[in-house]
Amino acid sequence: MPSSTTCSNYLLLLFIPLLICILPSSSSSSSSSNFNQHFQITWGDARAKILNNDQLLTLSLDKASGSGFQSKNQYLFGKIDMQLKLVSGNSAGTVTAYYLSSKGGAWDEIDFEFLGNLSGQPYTLHTNVFSQGKGNREQQFHLWFDPTADFHTYSILWNPQLIVFSVDGTPIREFKNLESIGVAFPKKQAMRIYSSLWNGDDWATRGGLIKTDWSKAPFTASYRNFNADNACIWNSGKSSCTSSKSPASSASWLSQELDSTGQQRLRWVQKNYMIYNYCSDKKRFPQGLPLECTHS
Ligand SMILES: *[C@@H]1O[C@H](CO)[C@@H](O)[C@H](O)[C@H]1NC(C)=O
Repeated sequence: MPSSTTCSNYLLLLFIPLLICILPSSSSSSSSSNFNQHFQITWGDARAKILNNDQLLTLSLDKASGSGFQSKNQYLFGKIDMQLKLVSGNSAGTVTAYYLSSKGGAWDEIDFEFLGNLSGQPYTLHTNVFSQGKGNREQQFHLWFDPTADFHTYSILWNPQLIVFSVDGTPIREFKNLESIGVAFPKKQAMRIYSSLWNGDDWATRGGLIKTDWSKAPFTASYRNFNADNACIWNSGKSSCTSSKSPASSASWLSQELDSTGQQRLRWVQKNYMIYNYCSDKKRFPQGLPLECTHS
C-alpha cells in the first residue's frame, strides 16, 4: 500500500533529524574537553593521567620526576582556553608551566608559568613572550583569588595584531604587534601547547630560597575544559582557517583587539596585581628599555 509506505517514510524523516541531534552531541562538545583527542602525555609515565571519561587531566610531581603533556596539533593563531587548578598547600618550589611554543633556534613562545609558594602565600603568575628566540619580556602577577581552591580559566588570544593573556576573561597582559617599529612578532611559526609540572626550587620561590618540601609529595595540578574551537590548526603547510569552510575573514577573534572595557580591566590588573614588569626595570636594561616598552 503506497500510502503506508509514504507514512513510514515520513516517520523516518522525522526520526533522522532526531538521531542527528542526539548522536553527535557528545562529539561536538568533545572539542571543548577531549584530552585524548587533543593531547599526548610526553613524560613522567603514570604521573600524568587522563581521567573522568576524558574530561580531566592531572599532572604530578614527586622527588623522582615531574610530568608533562603536549598538544597533538600545531596552531598558527588561536583563542585557546584551559582551566587549571594548581598544586595546593605548600607548593613552594613547584612550577606549573602552560605555554605555546614553536621549535628551532629562532622559536616563538607564549608562556604562563605558575610558581608555587608556602601555604597561604600567593602564587606568582609569571608570563613571557619570545619572538624569534628573543624573550626577556617577563611580567609577573599575583592573582585576585586562590588558584588552588578551584579551576580558573587561563586564555591566550593570539592573532596577527596582538597576544592577550587573560585570567577568567580578564586581560592581564597585552603584547602588540609592533613590527612597524622593528619588534619581531610571532606570526610565521606554528606552535604546540605544552604543559608540565616540575621542580623549580633552584629559582621559583623567592628566588630559590624556599625549597620543595618532598614530605608533601606527590604534588598535583589538574586541567579541564580545554577549548581551541577558535584556533587555526597548522598541518603540512596549511591552515585550517584558510579552507573554504571557514574563511579567516569571518573569524572575529582573528582581528579582535581589546575594547575599552578590556583596556580598563587590564589597567586594573596591572595597577593592583602586577609585581614585576620588565618594562619598568631600568637597572636591567642600562642601554635603554626594549623598544616595545616605549610604544605601549
Ligand atoms: C610567595 O610569597 C611571598 C610573600 O608574600 C611573595 O613575596 C612572593 O611573591 C610569593 N611568590 C613566590 C613565587 O615567591
